Amino acid sequence: MSHVLLAAGGSVAVYKACDLASKLAQRGHGVRTVLTGRAAELVNPQLFEAVTGEPAYVDEYDETRRGAMDHIDVSTWADVLVVAPCSANLLARLALGLADDLPTTAALALPADVPRLVCPAMNPHMLATPAVQRHLGTLREDGWGVFEPDEGHMACGVNGRGRLPDTVEIADRVEELLAR
Ligand SMILES: Cc1cc2nc3c(=O)[nH]c(=O)nc-3n(C[C@H](O)[C@H](O)[C@H](O)COP(=O)(O)O)c2cc1C
Repeated sequence: MSHVLLAAGGSVAVYKACDLASKLAQRGHGVRTVLTGRAAELVNPQLFEAVTGEPAYVDEYDETRRGAMDHIDVSTWADVLVVAPCSANLLARLALGLADDLPTTAALALPADVPRLVCPAMNPHMLATPAVQRHLGTLREDGWGVFEPDEGHMACGVNGRGRLPDTVEIADRVEELLAR
């Protein structure tokens, strides 16, 4: 059984991350989830636990996590990391190498040979900004795979590029990385 570490940011597309987790679990992978605080406000982490049968983590400074080091545990457990959806804020933090929450700290603690894929999801104007494009370029240079967002109607009411790709396509891409 391969181990997929799913990191989710505070994007409206986080509801699709539950479906991605479910699909990967149904394909026989172990799926553990790390959520940013904002992601966990948009969707309850318990939902990821229900569809994967594995833990979902948010805050390793939580009272209940005393004595544990979740960022090390999940990164040594992982065979692949997929960040879906990746908000503009989470993208910037990953590109800068910040370690100010569990998803970013786990990404930094990931052994160098573990493949990593980022799936940005945001408003088309946000996606087109030089800052966001610069951060995507930085992650590519750092060895990340970048799954380009789809074009279409966005939840914010505009049409353009920024939608999280279909979860079947993301699951396929994750399996391609695992097969390498
Ligand atoms: C309902 C809602 C939906 C949002 N969707 C997105 C989104 O799709 N992409 C994005 O970059 N930010 C989105 N935001 C803004 C982020 O939540 C905000 O920038 C936050 O700081 C993201 O931080 P994090 O992903 O690092 O937790 C949304 C905010 C709200 C309230």
